[in-house]
Amino acid sequence: MLPANYHLRTLEPSDYDEIIAICKQVYPTEVPYTLDELEEHYTVFPQGQFVAIDTDSQAVAGVHFTLRLRLLDFHIDDSWDILTAGGTFADHNPDGPTLYGADIMVHPRHQHHGLAHALTDVTRQLVEEERLWRMVGASRLPGYSQRREALSPEEYVEAVLEGELVDPVLTAHLKDGWTVVRPIHGYLDHDEESAGWAAVIQWVNPECPPPSELDLGRFEMP
Ligand SMILES: CC(C)(COP(=O)(O)OP(=O)(O)OC[C@H]1O[C@@H](n2cnc3c(N)ncnc32)[C@H](O)[C@@H]1OP(=O)(O)O)[C@@H](O)C(=O)NCCC(=O)NCCS
Repeated sequence: MLPANYHLRTLEPSDYDEIIAICKQVYPTEVPYTLDELEEHYTVFPQGQFVAIDTDSQAVAGVHFTLRLRLLDFHIDDSWDILTAGGTFADHNPDGPTLYGADIMVHPRHQHHGLAHALTDVTRQLVEEERLWRMVGASRLPGYSQRREALSPEEYVEAVLEGELVDPVLTAHLKDGWTVVRPIHGYLDHDEESAGWAAVIQWVNPECPPPSELDLGRFEMP
């Protein structure tokens, strides 16, 4: 799955500056990570912070940052700031049965090489190894702002699920094995491309699924 000229490893402090530079490029309207926040991710849950490296240049090409949560402590439509304690991951719960995918980003020069797919597979592996129930995240919907006059968020997500529309982020997540729970509003502060919307997404560990009363299916779109 991973192209030959890349490899994956966990985060190292020497990666921080490059990650901040990628963050500024792919999220130009968001406040980028600080060195302190990246150090905190590294400190609280080092085995959940993955980077893809371009083997030739040794440059960071992409990242997937995760933390463990007990979703009962949160609401289905909580924002990224709440779920990640303002991007610090200070709310990481070592006993949390859900791996929360806080961020996946790939440098524009390295997009469309399957890196997000590989960075998702490696976190799926972590879920299996730690015998967690599932992986949960929220997908931006950067194609939605152009369709918002014609479609409700639910209709837009449904059209992407049906393959009638392509969303630059949700379509990639669906190809990478995530399923949609439902759209929510206000997940990210400044995501105008997504018109303030995102879709809660999940991947359930078939070996160790959540008890039925804690299945996110109860929140799914009709
Ligand atoms: C979303 C993102 C991480 C995808 O990274 P990527 O490495 O380019 O994705 P991949 O190459 O692994 O693509 C995965 C699948 O999605 C498809 N895909 C990727 N981008 C796509 C697009 N813009 N439109 C349609 N399909 C796309 C790929 O073809 C691939 O499918 P395949 O396995 O059938 O070939 C990347 O675009 C990104 O960093 N975006 C900016 C940051 C962001 O919004 N992150 C998401 C936060 S929720």
